[in-house]
Amino acid sequence: MNVKIDVMIPESDITARIKELAAQISRDYEGRTPHVICVLKGSVYFTAELTKYMTVPVTMDFMSVSSYGNETSSTGIVRIVKDLDEPIEGRDVLVIEDILDSGRTLSYLMNLLRDRRPASLRLATLLDKPDRRIIPVTVDYRGFVIENNFVVGCGMDYQQRYRNLPYVGSVTLEED
Ligand code: IMP
Ligand code: MG
Repeated sequence: MNVKIDVMIPESDITARIKELAAQISRDYEGRTPHVICVLKGSVYFTAELTKYMTVPVTMDFMSVSSYGNETSSTGIVRIVKDLDEPIEGRDVLVIEDILDSGRTLSYLMNLLRDRRPASLRLATLLDKPDRRIIPVTVDYRGFVIENNFVVGCGMDYQQRYRNLPYVGSVTLEED
């Protein structure tokens, strides 16, 4: 199987959009210190870029989760592979995701975080595939809405590869 990757969103468009989001977030959090939660591994690049252009002070923590089940039968039950280092009670939490697909992982994660009683809880995602949604998720900051193609780059992988591509690329699998 040959993996073909076509540029879907060029790097310059991504950077421009991330700067807009950072400005919007900085306005919304004026006078506060958002506690940014990066959901490993896919959100590493988006988190780094977004926070770099934010003008309010930020603190950061990292979490790693994995969904139970396989691709055909995702249960929506999420296993915490690495939990946060610090409590979030009373903090203004901003969760950063790479891509929102069925919404299963994220709705579970947001509920889990809400139970820890943060002062506020918001979500930023670089990409959103709304047509794939099975469980509704409220998105506060959205980079781009895309169609149902499988994408890589900007942190997103296909079989753990291509995370470091500086653009969002769509994947086509071809017979060799
Ligand atoms: P959800 O629970 O179906 O919303 O799963 C979202 C997660 O699936 C994302 O955080 C990604 O890790 C992964 N994912 C969904 N769509 C894509 C894609 O097009 N490329 C790479 N990863 C994806
Ligand atoms: Mg992810």
